[in-house]
Amino acid sequence: MSRRPIIQMIGIEKIYPDGQYALRGVDFEVFEGEIHGILGENGAGKTTLMRILYGEIRPTRGRIFVRGREVRFSGPWDAIREGIGMVYQHFSLIPSFTVRENLYLSMLSMNKKIRREDIDEIAREYGEMIGFKISLDEVVEDLPIGVQQKIEILKTLMRGARILILDEPTSVLSPLETVELFKILRRLKESGYTIIYITHKLREIKGLTDRVTIMRRGRVVSVVETDKVSEEELAKMMIGSEEFVFKRSEVKRKEKTEKRRILEIRGVSVVDDKGVEKVREVYLEIFNGEILGLAGVQGNGQKELAEAIAGIKKVSRGRIFFNGLDITDLDVRERYRLGISYVPDSRGEALIYNMNLVENFILTSLERYMNSLKIIDWRRVRKDLLKAVERFDIKTRSLDLDVRFLSGGNQQKLIIAREFSRDPKLLIVSEPTHGLDIMSTIYVRDLLRKFRDSGRGVLLISSDLDEIYELSDRIAVINRGRIVITGDPKELPPEKIGYYIGI
Ligand SMILES: Nc1ncnc2c1ncn2[C@@H]1O[C@H](COP(=O)(O)OP(=O)(O)O)[C@@H](O)[C@H]1O
Ligand SMILES: [Mg+2]
Repeated sequence: MSRRPIIQMIGIEKIYPDGQYALRGVDFEVFEGEIHGILGENGAGKTTLMRILYGEIRPTRGRIFVRGREVRFSGPWDAIREGIGMVYQHFSLIPSFTVRENLYLSMLSMNKKIRREDIDEIAREYGEMIGFKISLDEVVEDLPIGVQQKIEILKTLMRGARILILDEPTSVLSPLETVELFKILRRLKESGYTIIYITHKLREIKGLTDRVTIMRRGRVVSVVETDKVSEEELAKMMIGSEEFVFKRSEVKRKEKTEKRRILEIRGVSVVDDKGVEKVREVYLEIFNGEILGLAGVQGNGQKELAEAIAGIKKVSRGRIFFNGLDITDLDVRERYRLGISYVPDSRGEALIYNMNLVENFILTSLERYMNSLKIIDWRRVRKDLLKAVERFDIKTRSLDLDVRFLSGGNQQKLIIAREFSRDPKLLIVSEPTHGLDIMSTIYVRDLLRKFRDSGRGVLLISSDLDEIYELSDRIAVINRGRIVITGDPKELPPEKIGYYIGI
């Protein structure tokens, strides 16, 4: 990487026609041959800045220099001519066409004189460079999304791009595909390419980039060398220190307390409604004071396993023990009463949208609020809920509002507040921060740690590897219904996990 700026954007402002102030005077600089991250929360202006660099939209004010020479783009073609390429978040391939047809089309639209026969040769060359082999006769729509993305990259390279912009490229990828994408980007860097990588994920910034520009509300707040900052510092810059409360609980866990097995799953199989075996002879255990992270691509049996533990689904084989007690034949209510709690991945399963907060709050603990005459003590429910609303910072106008009017983040907080207030001993949570903003994410993760630190057990099911690493004391990977590996996160690097997730 040289210290020579290949891109300089100076004083860029963008006011959208509707009056939206997206960029408020941004200076941005990229060195040749580096992987440069742009980090920021949703709405920070990352995409707008890069669409300006790609000539898709015009800045209201500001100047752009490529290799020291000022440019004025009137469309992406001008940018492409300068060697700038954008790999779209939503792909621009024609689904019913073959790979070859797509590549040919994109070259034609470049006005490049090219023969159909040459496509194979050029595609092979670039494919070799990035370690990507594909038969050009494949029809695009038959290919997994990760492969389509690689074709997008190939396409961009074939158009002669030397500077590649990727906008949140992993949002559509599985963990294994993410690992593969990173390999490609590193190879491109080795070959002298410059990469601009937009993301709001701290781990991706740390794992991939050389330098990072942090944006907040239309401004650049910092430019740093990635090695020199921690994830926590990055998060602070991204959110704004004045708003930042990183209440990460102390990791002073009582190592001395005796390890007790809270949950033991012995050879459990689960068959779905169609008779397909979704969970295959799973053995797992969870100890007190432990978060067990279950990693895997959604649909590999996680849900069925969680439902089997919660008692929603019957097992076809095996036994489940909770604090030494065989609970295999107990129903959901009985298991709840023993202290098992389950937060499913879709909020629609946990909430009844056209009921209000109060009604939703007692859905899973009716009995606790009933007197001997089976009458619900609503005053007590409201008192507890009010406490939860305060503690979890659930934003709502009233407790009598139907929960469908709450934002996704607040719905999620309500579910978690409800399950925590039941004071369970084992919490099964699936994708607990999916769709949450970063503040709520930090909050929910912190709660899970505190819950763990209080000596209880958590089964964390997540397809987000960042989350798995951030929270788990032990990691297990599930693949096609089987646990394919378990171990200490320190001994299981993401590449290895990615491999097991994808085999
Ligand atoms: N086409 C548009 N018209 C009006 N406002 C827009 C448009 N695109 C983005 N914005 C607004 O500009 C701001 C920055 O958006 P964007 O660049 O997409 O941020 P990011 O990529 O960091 O999430 C946001 O407030 C967004 O609502
Ligand atoms: Mg964006």
